[in-house]
Amino acid sequence: MKNILFVASEGVPFIKTGGLADVVGSLPKYVDKEYFDIRVMLPKYTCISQNMRDLMQYKTHFYMDFNWKNEYVGILEAVVDGVTYYFIDNESYFNGFKPYSSNFYEDIVKFSFFSKAALSAMPLLGFRPDIIHCHDWQTGLIPVYLHERFQGNDFYRGIKSIMTIHNLKFQGKWDIRSIKDLTGLPDFYFTPDKLECYKDANLLKGGLVFADAITTVSDTYAEEIKCAFYGEGLDGLMRARSGDLRGIVNGIDYEEYNPETDKYIEYKYNAVNFRKEKVKNKRALQKELGLVEDDRKMMIGIVSRLTDQKGFDLIAYVMDELCQDDVQLVVLGTGEEQYENMFRHFDWKYNNKVSANIYYSEAMSHKIYASCDAFLMPSLFEPCGLSQLMALRYGTVPIVRETGGLKDTVEAYNEYESKGTGFSFCNYNAHEMLGSIRYAERIYYDKKREWNKIIDRAMATDFSWGVSARKYQEMYDWMIG
Ligand code: ADP
Ligand code: GLC
Repeated sequence: MKNILFVASEGVPFIKTGGLADVVGSLPKYVDKEYFDIRVMLPKYTCISQNMRDLMQYKTHFYMDFNWKNEYVGILEAVVDGVTYYFIDNESYFNGFKPYSSNFYEDIVKFSFFSKAALSAMPLLGFRPDIIHCHDWQTGLIPVYLHERFQGNDFYRGIKSIMTIHNLKFQGKWDIRSIKDLTGLPDFYFTPDKLECYKDANLLKGGLVFADAITTVSDTYAEEIKCAFYGEGLDGLMRARSGDLRGIVNGIDYEEYNPETDKYIEYKYNAVNFRKEKVKNKRALQKELGLVEDDRKMMIGIVSRLTDQKGFDLIAYVMDELCQDDVQLVVLGTGEEQYENMFRHFDWKYNNKVSANIYYSEAMSHKIYASCDAFLMPSLFEPCGLSQLMALRYGTVPIVRETGGLKDTVEAYNEYESKGTGFSFCNYNAHEMLGSIRYAERIYYDKKREWNKIIDRAMATDFSWGVSARKYQEMYDWMIG
């Protein structure tokens, strides 16, 4: 049996702000349990819902030196769907209404504490990982610490580490003096070949330098981040480590996201009966959201964190033009105020055509995936993207920009060869996007049979974890030997 420990800042079903949580919560379920024991370690945030906290059991606790203090570290345990989760507890670090704070330094402190506590807790779990699989900047210090102070101890010697990049934009940067103080790492770790990055200390960079292997969540993103435009200042390092870097495309949980059994949607359907059944969900959503109730109207959905990553500048630029068309737009998301207000404004201006739902809701997200005809995701960059995979699964045709995982998972419609699962455009240009949306409108309104065949192909794609989980397994095998 090979032991793998995921360490991450979020994971379904305990805590989620985006796709990272979906991946951390679903991939371990789909790895072959006969050969791998994969467990997950998360912070025990006070904002985790009470019913999920009720599943956790106190295991043990200890005290750890951190930031010139001696701090309490509690360890709790829960088992969900056959996967064991560990939680690191210290309420002074993991309080607040959300996992991430608007004060970035607070997050640097929080996740430095988490990374050190996660490593320090391992000998007490009764589970020695062969590989620690770290996710994003919040766990970047783990490969660094593993290389540094923990090597002196027999328990840690030989443990390998993997750093998976879900989003290179977030790196955990702060001034060197503070990070040195916080982490207790010696001076020589803060040079440009280690944690230093453009005069600051960079936690993700530390992870990327010291991890034994690096992965990211699609092939195209693995290539893109070696270039300056997508590399976020680390493209040089990505090129230097390209031999240890690979892309493995994300999957989604096909049990959780299944139009045939989905508990959040009123009218269940599948790849055979969607022509009749799917539209009933649209009708119900139009009614619920106060849109014009008309089966024929093309409904376009967006479910997203509202940040510049997702291409909302393009949408803002052509929104008035788009709203002259015969379409409805349903948005679900929270995030930057400028985008929240932009959608609120258009909801006010085109009230029976646009519905802005500025909140977070698992139930509403499923309803949108199930009800819409098309799903818009014109991202500036997209490491993988799960929303378009959910849209494909629900027969909702994605309209995407050809970047990162969007490029790898959505095949552009080709009317001459009757191929394709969605619509796409190449440049980050608002009218190019509008051109794609209007092309989709023409097929939807004028060539319904063709449209339905796109849905047939979309629903026939397989982005369950099967293939990608096997790729992770191969990598684990190869690393452990
Ligand atoms: P990212 O991780 O960059 O946010 P992904 O497409 O990988 O993008 O994953 C986004 C996940 O978050 C999807 O599961 C999507 O359904 C969900 N999501 C985003 N915003 C909301 C929201 N407001 N309410 C419910 N789910 C949301
Ligand atoms: C990040 C990326 C997204 C990806 C997700 C899960 O949040 O923005 O593209 O799907 O992580 O890997």
